[in-house]
Amino acid sequence: MAAPVPVIAIDGPSGVGKGTVARALARKLGWHFLDSGALYRILALAARNAGVPLEDAGRVAALAPKLKIRFDQAPDGAERILLDGADIAGEVRAETTGSLASTIAVHPPVRAALLQRQRDFREPPGLVADGRDMGTVVFPDAPLKIFLDASAEERARRRMLQLREAGRGATLAPLLADIRARDERDRNRSTAPLRPADDAVVIDTTTLLPAAVLARVEELLHARNLV
Ligand code: DC
Repeated sequence: MAAPVPVIAIDGPSGVGKGTVARALARKLGWHFLDSGALYRILALAARNAGVPLEDAGRVAALAPKLKIRFDQAPDGAERILLDGADIAGEVRAETTGSLASTIAVHPPVRAALLQRQRDFREPPGLVADGRDMGTVVFPDAPLKIFLDASAEERARRRMLQLREAGRGATLAPLLADIRARDERDRNRSTAPLRPADDAVVIDTTTLLPAAVLARVEELLHARNLV
């Protein structure tokens, strides 16, 4: 039997920098990349646009198989997320959309509806998967599982700097409140709560720059003969 396609699962709370590290790693390795949070965000937006209440787990889940999503890049390298052909990347990345996503993500039928869609990203030569339950639920056989953590204050500060760099006004207090609310929902839901897999390597990034985190993950990859 052919060896399974390798997966690097990178999980952790909101704003910890998983996306930055996971994307850089996928690019460096030439592997596929799964941004699972984007799928929850897109589904939440689709439900809102269709007038489906976010608490109606069955109706929200029923929308999932119908979504025609494409992840893409504009010629200038900017991220594009096409839903039924329209670029909704700006809306997908909005802070408010993160909260909508976290709200629908508590429903087991919603999580089940997105499961196969996430597993479909597992294609040769390998996959870097970014999320909350990549190592615990979606890819429990991943040969390398990383759990990134950092204090809520540090994550809010990073988010604020990111928004300011993008030319958007941002203050710390509301970002910190939002991060705490999402942590609470993501960690305490009954299905697939945010937690490190038993075999995950936990890295506290509070005082680390992204390049140092990436270097640590690459060391682990080499140590496990995955590259
Ligand atoms: O990673 P993100 O901020 O884009 O994720 C948005 C929300 O989606 C997050 O607060 C919880 C939910 N989510 C999830 O429940 N499971 C995942 N694998 C990814 C995201």
